[in-house]
Amino acid sequence: MLDYTIKENALLNKVILVTGAGDGIGRQAAISYAEQGASVILLGKTVSKLEAVYDEIINAGYPEPAIIPLDLKGATEQHYIDMATTIEQQYQRLDGLLHNAGILTVLSPFEQIEQDSFDDVMQVNVKAPFLMTKALLPLMKKTSNSSIVFTSSGVGKKGRAYWGSYAISKFATEGMMETLSDELENTSVRVNAINPGATQTNMRARAYPGEDATLLKTPKQIIAPWLFLMADESADVTGQSIDAQPK
Ligand SMILES: NC(=O)c1ccc[n+]([C@@H]2O[C@H](COP(=O)([O-])OP(=O)(O)OC[C@H]3O[C@@H](n4cnc5c(N)ncnc54)[C@H](OP(=O)(O)O)[C@@H]3O)[C@@H](O)[C@H]2O)c1
Repeated sequence: MLDYTIKENALLNKVILVTGAGDGIGRQAAISYAEQGASVILLGKTVSKLEAVYDEIINAGYPEPAIIPLDLKGATEQHYIDMATTIEQQYQRLDGLLHNAGILTVLSPFEQIEQDSFDDVMQVNVKAPFLMTKALLPLMKKTSNSSIVFTSSGVGKKGRAYWGSYAISKFATEGMMETLSDELENTSVRVNAINPGATQTNMRARAYPGEDATLLKTPKQIIAPWLFLMADESADVTGQSIDAQPK
């Protein structure tokens, strides 16, 4: 699936929600989904970034996206319930949900992790996808073949010194994906995760300020598994944690 080439317009008529769609990997996923015909719902914190992605999609002649400005740090369960109602009213369906938004905060020794910083990471990386999935599942179950994709990390599979809260949150992400996939085994909803690997984005630059970022793959170069998991060809794939850049 890493060298998967999606058929033209394979996502036509699908509605796909992408969190963190204004930047990095989420931005590329949203544009690539739209390119294949999907109506993309762009969710994120910084409205100007979402608007830039919106313009890019419109200027390319792809289906008109929608924007949901939402700071996952402050969002409550009611925000997600209201969001699910709005999506159902506007589209009557949701075929794909890409949980991509994430934060890293600072890398530090375990003893120095501030409680507030730990809470922020767990809120954005774990609790937000949990509440959003919970609210959207009834709608996704109505679609004949729908896909939830979580975003993992190498440190969500093998812990690494100083990656504290972020690594813990990504282990939780893997656990949420496996639990949900097992629970939804006999439904039309499949659940998987992708670990992007080292990718040229702002988050990576903050974690490794000294490295030559031009040596890293761009989001566009690694986007194949994100497309595969939203296309009908992956209808039978569930419970998988996919490394987009295996060593
Ligand atoms: N890049 C890598 O090497 C790498 C490796 C492994 C895993 N990952 C994972 O891949 C995913 C995407 O990361 P990236 O590298 O593309 O990072 P990025 O460039 O920093 O983008 C993160 C996105 O998440 C959004 N976001 C952050 N906090 C948010 C909040 N409170 N509410 C709503 N949206 C929020 C950001 O919006 P704003 O720009 O508006 O803040 C941004 O669009 C993350 O889950 C990350 O953990 C990345």
